Formats: sequence, structure tokens, C-alpha cells
Amino acid sequence: MKELFSKQTQAIFYNLHPEPIQHMLDYDWLCRRENPSIVAIVHKGSSGLHKAFFGSSEILIPVYDSIAEACKNHARADVFVSFASMRSAFVSTKEAILQDSIRTVAVTAEGMPENQTRELIRLAKLNNVWFIGPATVGGIKPGSFRIGNTAGSIESIVSAKLYRPGSVGVVTVSGGMSLEMYHIISQNSDGVSEGIAVGGDTYPGTTLLENLLRLHSYPQTKMLVMLGEIGGKAEIEVAEAITSGKITKPIVAWVSGTVASQFNSEVQFGHANARSGNDQESAQAKNTALKNAGAYIPKSFNELGKTINDVFTKFVLSDKEYKEPSQISPQLSTSFRRPTSIVSSISDDRGAEPLYNKKEISSFVSRSIGFLLNQLWFKGKLNKVGEDFLELAVKLMADHGPAVATAHNAIVTARAGKDVIDSLIAGLTTIGPRHGGALDGAAKWMLSCDQRKISPREFIDEMKNKGELILGIGHKIRTSLNPDKRVLLLRKFAKQNLKATRYLNYALAVEQETLKKKNNLILNVDGATAAIFLDILKSSRFTQTEIEEIVDAGMLNGLFALSRSIGIIGHALDQKRLKQGLYRHAWDDILYM
Ligand code: ACO
Ligand code: LMR
Repeated sequence: MKELFSKQTQAIFYNLHPEPIQHMLDYDWLCRRENPSIVAIVHKGSSGLHKAFFGSSEILIPVYDSIAEACKNHARADVFVSFASMRSAFVSTKEAILQDSIRTVAVTAEGMPENQTRELIRLAKLNNVWFIGPATVGGIKPGSFRIGNTAGSIESIVSAKLYRPGSVGVVTVSGGMSLEMYHIISQNSDGVSEGIAVGGDTYPGTTLLENLLRLHSYPQTKMLVMLGEIGGKAEIEVAEAITSGKITKPIVAWVSGTVASQFNSEVQFGHANARSGNDQESAQAKNTALKNAGAYIPKSFNELGKTINDVFTKFVLSDKEYKEPSQISPQLSTSFRRPTSIVSSISDDRGAEPLYNKKEISSFVSRSIGFLLNQLWFKGKLNKVGEDFLELAVKLMADHGPAVATAHNAIVTARAGKDVIDSLIAGLTTIGPRHGGALDGAAKWMLSCDQRKISPREFIDEMKNKGELILGIGHKIRTSLNPDKRVLLLRKFAKQNLKATRYLNYALAVEQETLKKKNNLILNVDGATAAIFLDILKSSRFTQTEIEEIVDAGMLNGLFALSRSIGIIGHALDQKRLKQGLYRHAWDDILYM
């Protein structure tokens, strides 16, 4: 059978739980892995980056809103480690199992309904996915990969020598007891080759036997250790596999719960499946069945270490081909960890040549401003149409004459003797909901109307009832008879470059309604830019959550500010060039009351 884990294993972690994520990364570091095992985190409703330590340096792990998106971007990640709650575990695990790239899922959630687990088991088998859990800490492949919190603290891992592989394949029911087993094994053999805790539910994703057979098939497994529990027939299946010759390597086994015979009535132990039901499911009966089949059974749990030692010495050490595990020392130097105060992911000036989104600036010499904006604003995720659109928008919104608020403020400021920067700032401060700063708000209602599936008329009435103006609609001088050329050019671009323009279509349908009231209530340059950019984001690789985050972050108003800065600076320089003196508004243009 193909191994599930290696030193190169890449995993997707479900639910942003910083502690187990850090524990996995600490284990990677301890084992001297070259790269962290967690390459992506999925957390519903989130996106962005999660900061964690790999050794003493910080790394950023991408966070995705959906499992499909994470798998698409990390096709080499074949392990899904789920810290989903009992409520969300079914849906998320099912989705993970159905992804082509996922080969192993490990689910820690406790209390999953049995019908849900059984359905997941069916799907996992159908899709050739190895399912570990639920209700388990998971497992560990020493030197390679650790699932979540398996094997406890770093100190405990070091003392059980779990940072390097040994020869003993271990399968337990209990996650808590697996740690105890790893310690016993480390003291009585050359250590663990892989350890899996299948979990204490009645229907584990994969059984004791399935995991034992898998470990049995690996050449580095020289012997097996199984720790079962009272209740169920899983250990009997193992005894049958020994009898039928499916398990040929030496196996030490113990079924715990022998104390149940001291009680007069049925006893339910900690795990769902650990009940003293009929006699065949008692710990004594199962230990006897295993012993009769040929497994090595100690007299009591206390003697388990000695039995492991005896079997290891007799069968493994005596083997002529036996080699000691390579003496990799654990990498412990993680003590100096200083969290950084600033995270930045778009540029770097530390090398010989500055980088924009990991690209040398010399490579930008021949590229467009749209390309540059894509790298610095979108980390290169926007498509070519998006780049061309940004370039066009920057050109079209750069200036609109000296009469508009931005230019006017800059002119007055420059004439008061202030420098270009102050004039620029003065101009920029006028950008807001009435002038040039309506793009974000326009995009918000477009997204909301689309989601709520309301008609343009219903939307207009809704706004009227609230007494609010529709951002992106209306102009001081442009009308349907005297249209805004910039809007026409933007629409032409959309028509020529986009297959689908659902946001623009909706915005134009709103305009049709508002024009019935007055002919200056056109879709203005802010509204048209917002609508078309939403259509572009939709056609790019952005998820709906990412699109909403871009809008909420204020990117669109930022685009107007960027573009208009060109014009504002122009006006400030113009006033200086024309040597214009201090401006004073004319008395006759003021109504004194
Ligand atoms: N939504 C709904 N009704 C509107 C809107 C609107 N966006 N704009 C004006 N109206 C209404 C007015 O309330 C008024 O109604 P009333 O006659 O019942 O009182 C009527 O339409 C006529 O309004 P005007 O006075 O002609 O509009 P005005 O010239 O004052 O406003 C402005 C123009 C400021 C652009 C306005 O339409 C507005 O605030 N729009 C929303 C903000 C916006 O998109 N700004 C960006 C403009 S483009 C740029 O700056 C680059
Ligand atoms: C602009 O681009 O500044 C405007 O469309 C506003 C205006 O009144 O011209």
C-alpha cells in the first residue's frame, strides 16, 4: 500500500485553530523538515493569511473560504486535517473526500452522529480516501508528519523519540492512550514507524485491522503493536487476520478494560464503543482470541513494555538486515521567537533590486500601469482584462477640469502658497460620497441587490423610503442628452472585453428607472467603474467573499484617488506655473444673510 505520509506531505488544515496548527509546525521543525506541512487553512467566511512560526521565523499560511478553493490552489496537498466542530464535520469532511487531490482525511470532532460517520466511510471507500477518526487525536509518522496535537507537547515527543522513525507500527483505539504507548515503545524498542489512533466511536473511519494491514505492508514496519478496548469486534477481526495469515509480522496486543469483569452490571467506559456488552466483547475474551491466534499478549497492561521488548529483541534485533534508526537529532532551537509587528506581502526592498510582488522592478519597465497595479494591489491575481481596465480607469478619471471639488480645493491651496503635497492632500479630502468617492458604496448596493435578487424598481423604492441617494447615480452637468463620454468609453470596454456583465446590466436597469425622474440621474463614472470592475472580478479567479472583501477594503475609491491625484497635482503645478496669487472668493458670489 502507498504510504499516507512522508517528509514532503502537504496538508490543508480545516478551521483556524492557531494552537494545533502551531503544534504541527513545531513538529515539522523538530523533525528537520525543509518545508512546513500545512500549506493552507480553510476557515469559512475568511480569507487572507495566518501568521505562525516555523522554527524561530514567522511564516504566512494562506487562508481560504472554501475547501475547493484551497485544493485548487494547493493541488499537491493530499491530507485534510479537520478541526471542524461536531456540527460542521460532516459537511466539510464530505466536501474534502470528494476533492480529487485529497487522499487522507483525519477528523478530530467528537460526538458525530453514527449515520453521518457511516455515510462518510462509504464515500471515503468509494473515492479511495483514507479516513482517520472521528473522535481521535489522529496519528503521527515519526520524522515526517504529525496530525494536530498527536503525542502531546514537544518535550513528550522528544522523550518518546518521535522525531525519527523506528520499526514498530502502532494502532490504538484511544488517542490519549496512544501517547502512553509511544512512550512505552520508545523505552522498549527502536521506536515508532507510524502511529494511528482510530478513535473510540462504534464506527471508526478506518478500523484497527485496516490500519494494521496498511502498516504491515510497509517494509520499515518490522513489528506491530495494537492497543484495543473492551466493546465491539474490531480486535476479533485482527485475531482472524492473524489466523488467516494476512498478518505475518509479529504483533503485540492488549485489549484494555479487563477491570469490567469486576462490575456486576454493564459498564460504559469513556468511548462510545467501550461498553461491556456480551462476553465475546469483553477485554478478557478478546485478549484470549488474540493470544490463540498468535499475537503476543502480556499478562497485564503493566507488562506490555516487557512483552514489546521481548518481541523486538527476538524478531527485530536478531534480523541480519536490521539497521538502527538513523540518529537524527531533534531541532530544538525554537526558543527565540519574536512576533513581528508588521506583516507585508506585496513588496521587498532588502535585496540588490527592489521587488514588486516577488518580481524585480526592472521587469516592470516594459509593462503597463495596469500590470503594476495588479501586482501591488491584487498580488497578480487579476486577469489581463482587469489590468487593461485599471489602466483605462486611471486615464479616464485623472481630471475633470478646474471646477470640480478636487481640483478647486487644490487650486485654492496652491494659491495660498502651499506646496504640491498640501495641495494634493487638500484636493483628495473632497473625495467622498458626493464626489469621486461613491465607487465603494455603488459596488456595495450592486452586490447586495444581486444577492437579494430584488428588481431595480424595488431597490429604488427601498432607497427612497430610507431617504438615501443611490451612489453612482446622478451628475451635476451630464445628462442622458449630454452623456458623459467617460461612461460611454467604459461601457464600450466592457462590451468588447467581457462575456458577462451582470452588474453593469443591473446598474443600467437602475439608471433606466432613475432617468424617468430626471435626465441628470445617469449612471455616472463612479457607478459605471464600480459595476464593470465587479464584472471583471467575477470573471477573474476571485471568490464572492474575496470580491466583498476587496469592496469593503475600499479599493474602488482608492482607484479614483489614485487617478485623480494625477489631475490634482497637475492643477497645483499649473497654479504655480501661472504664478497665481492668493485666492479670495468674490463678495457678489456670496449671499450674505
Ligand atoms: N439617487 C437618487 N436620487 C437622486 C440622486 C441619486 N444618486 N441624485 C439626485 N437625486 C434626486 C434628488 O434628490 C432630487 O430629487 P428631488 O427633486 O425629489 O428633490 C433630484 O434627483 C434631482 O437632483 P439634482 O439636484 O439635480 O442633483 P444634484 O445635482 O444635486 O446631485 C450629485 C448630483 C451630487 C452627483 C448627486 O446625484 C449625488 O449625490 N449622487 C450620488 C453620489 C455620486 O454618485 N457621486 C459621484 C458623482 S461622479 C464624480 O464625482 C466623479
Ligand atoms: C468628476 O470627474 O470630477 C466629476 O464627474 C464631477 C463633476 O462634477 O464633473
